[in-house]
Amino acid sequence: MSTTQNPLKEMENLKPNVVPKYERPNASFMQTALPGFDKTVKARRAIRLFDGTPIAEEIMRDCLRHATLAPSSSNLECYELHWVRDAAKKAELGKLCLGQPAATTAGDIVVAVSRVDLWESHLRELTRIMTHNGAKPLKGPVRDYYESTVPMLMKTDRFGFNNFKRRIMFWLRSLKEPTVNGPVRKADYRVYGTLQAALAAQTLMLSLAAHGYESCPMGGIDKRGIGRLLGLPKSAEVTMVIAAGNGKPEGLYSTRTRLPYEVLIKEV
Ligand SMILES: Cc1cc2nc3c(=O)[nH]c(=O)nc-3n(C[C@H](O)[C@H](O)[C@H](O)COP(=O)(O)O)c2cc1C
Repeated sequence: MSTTQNPLKEMENLKPNVVPKYERPNASFMQTALPGFDKTVKARRAIRLFDGTPIAEEIMRDCLRHATLAPSSSNLECYELHWVRDAAKKAELGKLCLGQPAATTAGDIVVAVSRVDLWESHLRELTRIMTHNGAKPLKGPVRDYYESTVPMLMKTDRFGFNNFKRRIMFWLRSLKEPTVNGPVRKADYRVYGTLQAALAAQTLMLSLAAHGYESCPMGGIDKRGIGRLLGLPKSAEVTMVIAAGNGKPEGLYSTRTRLPYEVLIKEV
């Protein structure tokens, strides 16, 4: 693909990462976007064997840029995608993926990591970007949201005082009106982080497919070992590993099977 054709080129040097205004979904997308989306979603399969050829760097970056457009709670982007490029680390990662052929034969490999621990620094950075380094302060509900609501929801401390305070507050409010119920427990934060990382991971896999590459998400892995390999702090959590590259035909293990629509989709 030439750089002039590359639809993500304008995202290349975004500093700070303010994404340009794209066309919003509208009726014309049925003709323009849907055929490609339909093809992409249907073509993406979990592939367990690759030919080992690395994906062109620029394409890989496009896919990762797409992944950063995934939605995230309060836009805090509490995740990281570690594109493991170092040959020795890649080999070690293969072992930590329990030697799964998808991992050991992948052209490229990305680790999706939950980083709820970074919420405060992400909030600071996001505020800096949104306010143009403080030149345009946030106003009204947006300011209230980022300055009061988000810290109120996310703040934790060693002894769990904040979580206890939130639990009581949510309970009292729930007697009067619908209210959020968390986060109040450690598990809530883990779910929170896993969500953000998983959405980015799925966007990455769809982008890989749209670029003509195959992938395999892997959760059957040594998450703690991978955390150590990547030098992650204990507060970070590996969500999944995504193997990517040129899939081999024999890497497709089965025909695609799904439960009936009614089992998964409830129309209420
Ligand atoms: C969170 C998650 C973890 C997964 N872990 C593995 C894994 O460790 N090894 C593997 O071969 N496939 C893994 N898969 C792939 C699934 O088995 C696969 O997506 C499923 O069978 C459906 O097939 P399809 O993706 O080709 O439609 C995982 C998928 C997800 C979403």
